[in-house]
Amino acid sequence: MNRSVVLAIETSCDETAVALVGSPREILASEIASQIDLHNRYGGVVPEVASRNHLPKVRPLIDAALHHAGASIREIDCVAATRGPGLLTSLLVGYSAAKGLAIGLGKPFIGINHLEGHLLSPFLQGADPVSTSVGLIVSGGHTMLVRLESVGSYSLLGRTLDDAAGEAFDKVAKLLELPYPGGPEIDRLARQGDPNRFDLPRSMLHSGDFNFSFSGLKTAVRYLVPKLTGDYRADLCASFQEAVVDILVRKTIRAAKQSGVLLVAVSGGVSANSRLRFRMSEAAAAAELALKLTSPSLSTDNAAMIGFAGLERFLLGYRSELTEDADPNLKLV
Ligand code: KG4
Ligand code: ZN
Repeated sequence: MNRSVVLAIETSCDETAVALVGSPREILASEIASQIDLHNRYGGVVPEVASRNHLPKVRPLIDAALHHAGASIREIDCVAATRGPGLLTSLLVGYSAAKGLAIGLGKPFIGINHLEGHLLSPFLQGADPVSTSVGLIVSGGHTMLVRLESVGSYSLLGRTLDDAAGEAFDKVAKLLELPYPGGPEIDRLARQGDPNRFDLPRSMLHSGDFNFSFSGLKTAVRYLVPKLTGDYRADLCASFQEAVVDILVRKTIRAAKQSGVLLVAVSGGVSANSRLRFRMSEAAAAAELALKLTSPSLSTDNAAMIGFAGLERFLLGYRSELTEDADPNLKLV
């Protein structure tokens, strides 16, 4: 069987990323140019700054990906790019570049939902094909539980009604004057802290559905901070993180049990969190569920996950029209 190769571009937020993914599931190259330092001074992503900075990076990253893969542009069978959701002006940079490349090469183009990229990313490593599972996508913009039947067949089990879990990490980190993005900082500080020192709310834990809410937890931290003195940051990070992890783990395991699936797949930036990985592994084992955790290097935004989703779709015969627009509010389900 001939190998198929997809070139993928991801520019939905503040990372410019290009990857080459080959069948059946080999990352031939995965290049990322981060803008974190640029946005750090504003404490979050500034859309105008993000899109302007994607533009000069796309071409050099395509060259770097081809160079690292030892591949020629002629070996590409399909070009994929993130269609949404994300910042429109950022999306347009990668999406338009990918369309132009596909036209120039005379190859098919496939627009990919960024959330599908995350959802399938736990299957990018290992030999198992994409299979029936409950997926927890937990990132800076989204927190959702999805039942995955097969590639392209998804149904929503629950989602956050307010903040995403990663957003809560970032906002709490800002309150504690930690750098952006706050998730990795809280993860690091929490290792030295006592998760039981502060009793923080676990909203909607017993709501009877699979929806989430994290804004109450963030507000509880906001009211607590002015009352604290001394060195409280590590304990507060550990207590906050434990509350988020508690909710994510319990609802995910419950959703899997209720759906009757035997596999849980966790993805998105927050799936890099060390405590979430540990607690989810423990809970899945206790519930006799198989677990796939996205490898930490593929948890946060990257183009390899877009390339993998593109490759799976390409092999199934999906193709996108070149007239299809980028969509900042694109839905997965
Ligand atoms: O998937 P992602 O790169 O971008 C979105 O699609 O949103 O996720 C970024 C989010 C940020 O909120 C960041 O703080 C969080 O993932 N994050 C973490 C960790 N690493 C990244 N949150 C908690 N612990 C981590 N180790
Ligand atoms: Zn993402």
